[in-house]
Amino acid sequence: MTIKHIFVLGAGTMGNGIAQVAATSGYTVTCMDIIPAALEKAKSTIGKSATKLLEKGALTAEQKSAAEKIKFVGNLDDVPQADLVIEAASENPELKFKVFRDLDAAARPEVILASNTSSISITKLAAVTKRPDKVIGMHFMNPVPLMKLVEVIRGLATSDETTQTTLEVCKVMGKEPVEANDSPGFISNRILCPMVNEAIFALQEGIGTPEAIDNVMKLGMNHPMGPLTLADLVGLDVVLSVMEILQRDLGDDKYRPCPLLRKYVDAGWLGRKTGRGFYSYQ
Ligand code: CAA
Repeated sequence: MTIKHIFVLGAGTMGNGIAQVAATSGYTVTCMDIIPAALEKAKSTIGKSATKLLEKGALTAEQKSAAEKIKFVGNLDDVPQADLVIEAASENPELKFKVFRDLDAAARPEVILASNTSSISITKLAAVTKRPDKVIGMHFMNPVPLMKLVEVIRGLATSDETTQTTLEVCKVMGKEPVEANDSPGFISNRILCPMVNEAIFALQEGIGTPEAIDNVMKLGMNHPMGPLTLADLVGLDVVLSVMEILQRDLGDDKYRPCPLLRKYVDAGWLGRKTGRGFYSYQ
């Protein structure tokens, strides 16, 4: 099936980035969120990002105007017209299972349902649908317009055809897909989140200030951002949720979330999106 229309469910940090890249790559895009304020924020984020990329010559004027044509909606009414659905709802397993049941009921039977989950089992998501062969992980990285990688995750029942189509869509979006098997955290978060969690332990134990911890990793290991800055970008709630899933599903306490991470999440200090995390963004 030729993919022309992509329905992105969720207009948060990842959803709006995916919608933007899909639109500037030539797809017709509908972006849905149940929270009206999230749709407003997504519109403004996409506008700013596309303007910046145009100024830098990374987007053409046509691509920028394609980003302005994204349709923002508050319900699933457009799903039957979509040729591909990419779900980017909050990283909450029960919510994702409900969303997948709803999408399965609304989408045409031949349509692929992809999830941008960073850690929830694709096999489990597929199992709540009547099309497990057409469910796949499409794990984009933040910030989506700048990062090359899409981790493509096959569930147990995902077909070769679904995988092939998904890899092609990633390439049309100008991304480099890398295949991973369905295991908690896949490849990216199995490695990234324990590193970030360890940096938070180092902070908790007073081994260094946030700046010192970040500078060691930036200047000594050539990471583009230190782990605490990166945690603030990704969202501390996301890091906590990934660590909880790694600990539970791999049954190993080496993945226990750092108590300081939990405390920050309890305080609502989730990073850039709330104006405060390990650093202040006021
Ligand atoms: N759209 C357009 N432009 C953007 C942008 C966006 N969404 N985000 C940042 N930029 C722009 C900045 O405005 C800046 O523009 P100027 O040069 O005009 O000032 C430019 O990009 C470069 O940004 P910075 O100067 O802040 O710094 P940088 O050179 O460090 O680049 C970066 C930014 C590409 C994000 C780089 O720091 C980086 O690669 N960081 C690591 C990001 C990373 O690891 N992401 C993966 C997180 S894990 C994940 O997402 C998955 C998960 O499940 C948790």
